[in-house]
Amino acid sequence: MKRDFLHVSDFTSEEIYETLELAKWVKDKFKRREKYFPFDNQSMAMIFAKPSARTRVSFETGFYRLGGHALYLGPNDIGIGKRESVADIARVLSRYNDVIMARLFEHKHILELAKYASVPVVNGLTDYNHPCQIMADILTIYEKLGSLNDLKIVYIGDGNNIVHSWLELALRIPMHFVCVCPEGFLPNQKLVDMVNEDGKSKIEISHDPYEAVKGANVIYTDVWASMGQKEEAEIRKKKFDGFQVNSNLMSATGTKPYFMHCLPAERGVEVTDEVCDSENSIIFDQAENRMHAQNAVMIKLQKDSKK
Ligand code: CP
Ligand code: NVA
Repeated sequence: MKRDFLHVSDFTSEEIYETLELAKWVKDKFKRREKYFPFDNQSMAMIFAKPSARTRVSFETGFYRLGGHALYLGPNDIGIGKRESVADIARVLSRYNDVIMARLFEHKHILELAKYASVPVVNGLTDYNHPCQIMADILTIYEKLGSLNDLKIVYIGDGNNIVHSWLELALRIPMHFVCVCPEGFLPNQKLVDMVNEDGKSKIEISHDPYEAVKGANVIYTDVWASMGQKEEAEIRKKKFDGFQVNSNLMSATGTKPYFMHCLPAERGVEVTDEVCDSENSIIFDQAENRMHAQNAVMIKLQKDSKK
């Protein structure tokens, strides 16, 4: 048996809390430069069909520091789904590697990769979701707030892959999550309905940033045009007029919320420099925690795959 991490909701609530504790433990070990090599003599193939800074560097560095070797396969290398089928790539890479991490366009391709791989597969972002990012985000919030009770997370911007993984988390950890987006840029309605029907969390969709942000613990945003949509950037700037996270909007919260962004940010577009560089901005803590959260996920998958 092997286990994959393709959606945050692939883990139960208990497993998410367990993974957060493990992430804190492994982070502490790293900070003290203690040697810990659960992936000694092992390798991980990292498939990137899209560009990346954080995902590439945090996985490669993190896996090395867990004793393993990570192999970067960039957009022009293996041609997944083009030069060779996803299923064949999965079977071939499983013969050489102990873990596969992939950043792909189509979500169905990561499902297929996991289906045909005989080793754990970790989702490093698809057009649909970005589970490792949200594990890092919730770890960061847990560290900053000291608990995950009474969370009001307000996301402002495109109802994209980041939002979908927040919704996956909301299936497992209770929260009030508000997605504030222009008409026509909503997250997947089926997923929103599923989370609301599940009843653990409350999900709201709003088109009014100044009203929605009231009482938030966290204000979160992401680029208005994701990878694969960059040719729409100019038209999106017009459609997203009024949805920029700036100091006025941060003040309208009436609280002193943390500011979060998965990065890369388009400073001056979805968020101002002033907010990015404010004392409540925790964007670089989030980026750092990518490594620790992912390491914990991989250690957990390794442990569960051996059972
Ligand atoms: N946040 C994130 O995944 O960044 P990269 O696209 O640089 O990996
Ligand atoms: N929504 C962004 C996230 C980047 C980490 C994108 O898909 O480009």
